[in-house]
Amino acid sequence: MEGNRTIAIMTSGGDAPGMNAAIRAIAKAAIYKGYKVVGVIDGFKGLVEANFKELTVNSVENIMQLGGTVLGTARLPEFKQPEVQDKAVNVLKTYGITDIVVIGGDGSFTGAQKLSHKCEEPQHNYKCNVVCLPGTIDNDLACTDYTIGFDTALNTVLEAIDKIRDTMSSHGRCCVVEVMGNRCGDLSLFSSINSGAESLILAERPESFDIDRICDEVAEGAKNGKKCHIVILSELLTDAGELAKTIEKRTGVSTRPSILGYIQRGGRPSASDRMLATKMGVYAVDLLEKGVSNQIVSIRNNKIVNDDIDVALAMPRVFDEDLYKMNEILSI
Ligand code: ADP
Ligand code: F6P
Repeated sequence: MEGNRTIAIMTSGGDAPGMNAAIRAIAKAAIYKGYKVVGVIDGFKGLVEANFKELTVNSVENIMQLGGTVLGTARLPEFKQPEVQDKAVNVLKTYGITDIVVIGGDGSFTGAQKLSHKCEEPQHNYKCNVVCLPGTIDNDLACTDYTIGFDTALNTVLEAIDKIRDTMSSHGRCCVVEVMGNRCGDLSLFSSINSGAESLILAERPESFDIDRICDEVAEGAKNGKKCHIVILSELLTDAGELAKTIEKRTGVSTRPSILGYIQRGGRPSASDRMLATKMGVYAVDLLEKGVSNQIVSIRNNKIVNDDIDVALAMPRVFDEDLYKMNEILSI
């Protein structure tokens, strides 16, 4: 490595289990290669305010297994303003930050993209390599098959549904389970397949919110002696409580809502998320060491890859129609 280089690590947007495993991997790999490493406190807000904390081998010990992010995260809508981005570049210059890793979702990647382009503008002409890692429970990024946090959140949802099934079965009830995912139904679809849910109302398929169909499925199940009926509802589509009342009124089957909420975003990261975060973190440092910038690290076909941020953000998300069909077949 040439000269004195400092890597900044930032977590931004909604937190996700596995972010700490990524922070640890980046910090350790960077220290191993001779970088100084600082953590940015609370995302772009901390960057603009120069709120940094030096990360050492000791300070990243015992964090891999923790949910959340030890660096904190925040939302700073003002980062869309070019003057605020200018401020951030000035902070990078003042603190001699030569490289930055941003861990977050597509909003954070857009912020990172703006920061990267801002550095290149003639009034700054500052070389700072920017690399992003996908960290969100939603799995809503087109460039990567999986995001850090998705597997843990999926396991949390499954554990909750398994428990809900126990009590619903005892009472012969239906339950509307609301699952997170901001306009992305991956958590809902994967949890439907793996919990054996009887009905699914999915963000990508607004037509699946068909109250007649759902009530028919619940009534049919009850008629056939099903002891429990799980309806998975992607968040933001309708009110789970109201839907439960309607199902009960129209079918006569006792129905309860269960909004899983923020438990889905917390908890110890799964082995799979730790591994993904670790591989991506080490890969990011390798890119930075080579002087590669403006990149998003992804996993596709089980291989860690990187794409230009501009290219990755322009990729269209492809809905997995085969998985959706498979779920329909298995939910009879
Ligand atoms: P996520 O990264 O999980 O998608 P957000 O959409 O909340 O989360 O974005 C996180 C942060 O990224 C925002 O609070 C803001 O600071 C920054 N950001 C988001 N969109 C933009 C944008 N268009 N331009 C600049 N910064 C942005
Ligand atoms: O992006 C992760 C996520 O948990 C979404 O599933 C959800 O819609 C959103 O964040 C909630 O965000 P907030 O933290 O602002 O409530």
